[in-house]
Amino acid sequence: MKRMNVKDLITSTQFNEEVLVKGWVRTIRGSKNVSFIALNDGSCMANAQIVADSEKIPAEILDKTHSGAALSIEGQLVESKGKGQLNEVLATKIEVLGESNPDEYPIQPKRHTLEFLRENAHLRFRTNLFGAITRVRHAMIFAIHDFFNHRGFYNIHSPIITGSDAEGAGEMFKVTTLDMLNPPKTETGEVDYSKDFFGKATNLTVSGQLEAELAALAMSKVYTFGPTFRAENSNTSRHLAEFWMIEPEVAFADNNDNMDLAEAMLKYVVQYALDNCAEDLEFLEQRLKNEEKQKPESERSMPLVEKLKFVLENDFERITYTEAIDILKKSKPNKKKKFDYIIEEWGADMQSEHERFLVEKHFKKPVIITDYPKGIKAFYMKQNDDGKTVAAMDVLFPQIGEIIGGSQREENYDKLMTRMKEMDIPEETMWWYIDTRKFGTVPHAGYGLGFERLLLFVTGMTNIRDVIPFPRFPKNAEF
Ligand code: 4AD
Ligand code: MG
Repeated sequence: MKRMNVKDLITSTQFNEEVLVKGWVRTIRGSKNVSFIALNDGSCMANAQIVADSEKIPAEILDKTHSGAALSIEGQLVESKGKGQLNEVLATKIEVLGESNPDEYPIQPKRHTLEFLRENAHLRFRTNLFGAITRVRHAMIFAIHDFFNHRGFYNIHSPIITGSDAEGAGEMFKVTTLDMLNPPKTETGEVDYSKDFFGKATNLTVSGQLEAELAALAMSKVYTFGPTFRAENSNTSRHLAEFWMIEPEVAFADNNDNMDLAEAMLKYVVQYALDNCAEDLEFLEQRLKNEEKQKPESERSMPLVEKLKFVLENDFERITYTEAIDILKKSKPNKKKKFDYIIEEWGADMQSEHERFLVEKHFKKPVIITDYPKGIKAFYMKQNDDGKTVAAMDVLFPQIGEIIGGSQREENYDKLMTRMKEMDIPEETMWWYIDTRKFGTVPHAGYGLGFERLLLFVTGMTNIRDVIPFPRFPKNAEF
């Protein structure tokens, strides 16, 4: 007999057919004579209803049927007499594939806190919530590849181990095979990385951008989708030490093309979620509503699906950094010193409180900020003619702040070299990057989308540690 997954089974009207289904017990309830088992296999939110009659199923089997146990069930599919499901399976044979001790099983059929589930991340896939998040995460990965594939982009695997620091931020994890207790030293007493595995100091990548640029300057349109690592000690609900980033890079494109691409991509993947994840989004929307019940009405967020549709229906607001700073300086929270960081002058780095003010209070829609001061941005960004700003663009979203960061790149050899010197970027290790500005350089642009930040938006979850299966953050690399 061919096994059916729960998703196909629960919508089937092939009544009286013999079926085989396997999965894990969510709950079991009933009387001495008949038990009702809710069985889930991850294929969808809903459970299959299994009816186990004590005349057909031996007591020793039912005695082992607890939440968390894995079962294989054969039976007859019949129309359900009860409410809440179309059909049920009258079990003729139940095999307990994996037992579960009900006294020790952490996932009880009740509401657990997110904190508790984080500590039990090995089992949290077995909850409705993490089943939903896992399915939405998968759908978004698929949607992103779909979007770029349709537009003729090539997917590039950029290296995970690198010798360069793309963002120049220096928040990197070292990769080494040297003996930490007794590393080889140079004559001047420093660690001698020439003796290390790669013959030089290496680290985990913070971005695949620089390599994506190399590929774009031959393939025209490329994107990376890979893990990135940042050793910044930010214990916030929006930062991970290991996160996934999507980085498109396009030749013959400027910063306006870049913004158009970013907006089209975000709208495409949000539409994809609405079209393909309706059941999970409905569940996530309800969760958010319950979560926010205690909050005063004015602080509650828009219902999830409405919020997703809102992004689709509105053009993102595009303003320059200079305009944004003017708005912030004149804003109530700035004048009343309600911001943690008061905006005093042009050149200040915006914090997420400022980004969220612009998006949630001032414009009430996604905002793209362009033309930032060069002093707060990376060396590779295209320098504007004013000598002060660069052709950068950050996309800001409600509840999240920055979801995308990108720019047009400096394609002019002399300007790039001058900027690298000013910012102390070592030329020796970047010769290959500089080479592209010598051989057929052209205007090009790209951006990075933080995949987990996108998922925060689409799922309505508020902590980034809950939208990646096994989060890495300061003092935590469990599982
Ligand atoms: O703004 P960032 O640092 O940009 C870059 O890395 C560029 N090389 C991208 C490019 O132009 N190709 O990071 C891009 C995005 C941010 O907007 C944010 O969404 C996400 O990556 N991000 C993080 N997400 C989770 N945890 C962190 N610690 C993150 N740091 C950045
Ligand atoms: Mg950024």
